Amino acid sequence: MTKKIEPGVLLTGGAGYIGSHTFVALVEAGYQPVILDDFSNSHPVVLQRLQQLTDRDVLCERGNVLDTSFVAGVLRRHRCVAAIHFAGFKAVGESVQRPLMYYSNNVGGLLSLLQAMETTDCRTVVFSSSATVYGDPATVPITEQFPCAPESPYAHTKLMCENILASLRTSDPSWRVGVLRYFNPVGAHPSGLIGEDPSGIPNNLMPYVTQVAVGKRSSLNVFGNDYPTPDGTGVRDYLHVTDLAAGHVAAVDALLANAQSFTVNLGTGEGTSVLGVVRAFERASGRTIPFEFGPRRAGDVAQYFADVSLADSLLGWRATCNIDDMCRDSWHWQQRNPDGYRNSSGISLNQQSGDLAQPKPNDPLLSPIGI
Ligand code: UFG
Repeated sequence: MTKKIEPGVLLTGGAGYIGSHTFVALVEAGYQPVILDDFSNSHPVVLQRLQQLTDRDVLCERGNVLDTSFVAGVLRRHRCVAAIHFAGFKAVGESVQRPLMYYSNNVGGLLSLLQAMETTDCRTVVFSSSATVYGDPATVPITEQFPCAPESPYAHTKLMCENILASLRTSDPSWRVGVLRYFNPVGAHPSGLIGEDPSGIPNNLMPYVTQVAVGKRSSLNVFGNDYPTPDGTGVRDYLHVTDLAAGHVAAVDALLANAQSFTVNLGTGEGTSVLGVVRAFERASGRTIPFEFGPRRAGDVAQYFADVSLADSLLGWRATCNIDDMCRDSWHWQQRNPDGYRNSSGISLNQQSGDLAQPKPNDPLLSPIGI
């Protein structure tokens, strides 16, 4: 019996939170994902977890997406038919402090990837964009037709990347481009093996709440209770990361099948307030989450949630998990991994490179997890 060839899909930043969940979804859908990551905001233990989850060798090349010839080499070696671009900085506040770092890494990273793709004749790309490009919307739910009004350097980098992709498509219609505007990804794989592992004090609500629940932080500071929302706290469209991962598979499938480019929102279409998340987390964990109200956080908007009808009609994708599922899986991950990937399972980095990568012998270009 001949083995079906699994199309290779490059995942820049594939060792990160969303990339690692997408790795699993792609394997389940019959693709061969290839991780390219510099591990600046991820931990190599995730590779061992991915191996456990998928029961296969994990292809991973350590390097930076800004190194165009390295990226081209990875695309060639693994005969990638598509790339998903996750690699990028993502902290809104940090982008205000260090705009040059954000523009050069996020915009430069995409340019480098696209140049590498062009030279290797791989012209199918899915880009991780963000609902942050809409800024403060006049109304909700937000459709893809809403005007873009980025408010932070981070948001500007996302919109600039979208514009670069649009120009490229205009210049050469053989490019197939899928832009995914994520709302608020949370949760973890139900196995508890992979999840979000922020370094330092979490910026985002869900990882902060999980750390309060596990006793690492004493209480949650709710940023503002005077918004024009039902309970006065900010409302967001939280999306389970496994649903988001499935959205990437749907995007790759659609681009490879139809050659039609698109920009779609990925969310549930449901808004949940900060206090709604706290209550759902208390239900999931059986613990009380102490909180106090503080002032609004600069740059936050009152509420946003997605109109998700386009993703449904175009990609046949819709979210399947609700806020209780998200909290249950976040809690499971946090309990199993109180320190994230750190201090876990005690395997050394060198062992990993031997176990997990598949170097072709004597290939001088290959740098599998070269730690
Ligand atoms: N919040 C708190 N306390 C905290 C953290 C957050 O009350 O300690 C509140 C915020 O004020 C907001 C809500 O929880 O009302 C969600 O905040 P997050 O920081 O989790 O998420 P944001 O909506 O601010 O931003 C996220 C990503 C951005 C992305 C944006 C839009 O962090 O990268 O969604 O997709 F751009």
